Amino acid sequence: MAVVTIVGGGVIGVSWARLFGAAGWEVRISDPRPDLGELVARELAGLPVTATDDLAAAVTGADFVQEAGPERMEAKEQIFATLAAHTRDDVVLASSSSSLLPSAIGEGNAAADRIVIGHPFNPPELMPLVEVVPGPRTSAGTVDRAVEVYRELGKLPIRLRKEIPGFVGNRLQKVFNDQCFYLVQQGVIGVKDLDDLVRASLGLRWATIGPFESGVLGGGPEGMRHLLAHVGSQMTFETGSPDPARLGEVLDAVEQAYGTGESAYERLVALRDARTRSVLEPLGWPEPPAVDDHQQ
Ligand SMILES: NC(=O)c1ccc[n+]([C@@H]2O[C@H](COP(=O)([O-])OP(=O)(O)OC[C@H]3O[C@@H](n4cnc5c(N)ncnc54)[C@H](O)[C@@H]3O)[C@@H](O)[C@H]2O)c1
Repeated sequence: MAVVTIVGGGVIGVSWARLFGAAGWEVRISDPRPDLGELVARELAGLPVTATDDLAAAVTGADFVQEAGPERMEAKEQIFATLAAHTRDDVVLASSSSSLLPSAIGEGNAAADRIVIGHPFNPPELMPLVEVVPGPRTSAGTVDRAVEVYRELGKLPIRLRKEIPGFVGNRLQKVFNDQCFYLVQQGVIGVKDLDDLVRASLGLRWATIGPFESGVLGGGPEGMRHLLAHVGSQMTFETGSPDPARLGEVLDAVEQAYGTGESAYERLVALRDARTRSVLEPLGWPEPPAVDDHQQ
């Protein structure tokens, strides 16, 4: 049985562990958190998972490493130094980082050619996408192997042509979320209404077709050129940006709308997961592999 080591047993690490474990991998999960044993017993029961706080031991003999530790460069540097020292030189060291550059994570690391971003969307066990982002020193073999592993897990790995902070998914998300904060701060709409508005429009649309394809259709038979000349030409307004000093007001409104703490979290996770599971298959996931994913 192939062995994967998941580094970090937080939100993302536990979900990766479920995904790899269900796909037949032997999973080792490493995290210094004192409740690691209880976490594994509670969240990963029935899967072939072992847990340890000893990272070097957890990666020795592993066939693939998926890092999901803290999103701080110092933490990544330390973790990847240990990974480089205790893994074979054919083992991919993939980081789940949401925005940190693979070149920065690999800086000064003897295994920089094996370091690649494998950025999932939360939760990795359900969301199809994994962004595969090489740094300048990442080898082609590393990228190929990461793509192969994610594809075998039923994911849609998309390789970026070069690194950029935030990659693609989170750059788009940042712009969008900034505007959400701005509109609430401006008193245009409330938190729950904004969420409903997105679910009922852009969310549903983008689950079926992407923004460019949508633009093609919005222009009718004349396509996106017509849409831009016609509707787009009037959208000359400034979009504005949120006031960083007033983010707290929006966060208060979000907490009021959705609650906080363990029970609210569990209720919201259950709702999201049930809805996501119910649409994946009708929407055609998992997709059959593209003939040549270099063209994607
Ligand atoms: N939360 C998201 O929506 C999301 C989505 C995609 C990617 N990511 C990325 O995944 C990674 C993990 O994020 P998360 O949301 O699961 O964070 P988290 O805070 O829930 O979990 C991080 C875990 O790392 C552990 N940890 C700390 N030091 C460690 C070490 N030296 N070795 C091993 N584990 C250590 C912590 O104890 C904690 O359990 C980050 O890089 C983040 O950017 C997060």
